Amino acid sequence: MKRILVTGGAGFIGSAFVRNTLRNYPETHVVVYDKLTYAGNLNNLRDADPARHSFVQGDIADGETLAAAMAACDAVVNFAAESHVDRSIMGASDFIRTNVEGVNTLLAQALKLKVGRVLLVSTDEVYGSTEEGSFKESDPLHPRNPYSASKAGSELFGTAYFETYGLPVVITRGSNTYGPYQYPEKVLPLFVTNAIDNEGLPLYGDGRNVRDWLYVDDHCAGIDCVLRHGTPGEAYNVPGGSERQNIELTRRILELTGRDETLIRPVADRVGHDRRYSIDGAKLRALGWAPNTPWDDGVSSTVRWYQENEWWWRPIKSGEFREYYQRQYGSKT
Ligand code: NAD
Ligand code: DAU
Repeated sequence: MKRILVTGGAGFIGSAFVRNTLRNYPETHVVVYDKLTYAGNLNNLRDADPARHSFVQGDIADGETLAAAMAACDAVVNFAAESHVDRSIMGASDFIRTNVEGVNTLLAQALKLKVGRVLLVSTDEVYGSTEEGSFKESDPLHPRNPYSASKAGSELFGTAYFETYGLPVVITRGSNTYGPYQYPEKVLPLFVTNAIDNEGLPLYGDGRNVRDWLYVDDHCAGIDCVLRHGTPGEAYNVPGGSERQNIELTRRILELTGRDETLIRPVADRVGHDRRYSIDGAKLRALGWAPNTPWDDGVSSTVRWYQENEWWWRPIKSGEFREYYQRQYGSKT
């Protein structure tokens, strides 16, 4: 793969994928295509070799601009999405526009240009919630919030393009990802940066919901493995193997930031809050992938990164974010 188009490559996971691809494949040029929504940030790409990647600002729903960026690419990896569940609960139209219509446009352009491989980055949330056991790729999709419904929609379009036109689409379903450069609306960077500032940590409901934590570079390695070795038409789970209740995550963050539990603010639960996500990784392990960042190492290095990189998150938290925070949390923290 000499030239790869990474859509949504200025976001959290996409930018890590760009960095890692440039590091691991010295012959590859990466074209980053990103609309730069509130979640996109060119600072996320500051460590990506400027000689080996180019940037195009554009919307995946804009077929013409997208096709120009996609020309001569051997593969497309789509990270572009509206990605935050709480925002999808406030209103789903942006989610439908990007995650469904945008992905349909991307697939149509890839088909026209006969791109050799298209990978859609999806999520464990498409299976819905389960109190026990772990979902396999053959299990039915049962998304329970507007975000995960829109991601399931994008997957179904991907599979339809494979079945109808033979477009070589592969899909990954990753679990809750954490690491540097994550927009601080998501629980881990929100709680770390609030703790640094001695502000309350708004813990939803009883704090016992379970998420399976996956370090961002491990997620990217799983995506890369599927891109190169996955079977067209198939989906692959990418689990972290580190299931934790939110209260456990919260306590660990307080420990690592040297704060105490008086900062915890129990707030009203997220509506329709999925209790537990859990996925089985055997299918991807059979392709040779395994996560290799133990939770303790990953969480402590991530907390340290936010402590050492205030230049990155302070401007974000004082911008558009403040208005969102007020709408989401009011005066609860
Ligand atoms: P993010 O919100 O940090 O980044 C999304 C990026 O997409 C941003 O750079 C944004 O500017 C860009 N974008 C949004 N709409 C666009 C459009 N219409 N056209 C072009 N670019 C657009 O998200 P993330 O956490 O990095 O997630 C990346 C992908 O991985 C998403 O598809 C998400 O559903 C999926 N995923 C995320 C996680 C997680 O825990 N963060 C886990 C599993 C899967
Ligand atoms: O599982 C993969 C998904 O993980 C991705 O597909 C999504 O893009 C990503 O945003 C993430 O979704 P979650 O809803 O699990 O992540 P979030 O960080 O919003 O919340 C994680 C847990 O923490 C969840 O149980 C809700 C809880 N939470 C979250 C926030 C923002 C709180 O208790 N308080 C908060 O303020």
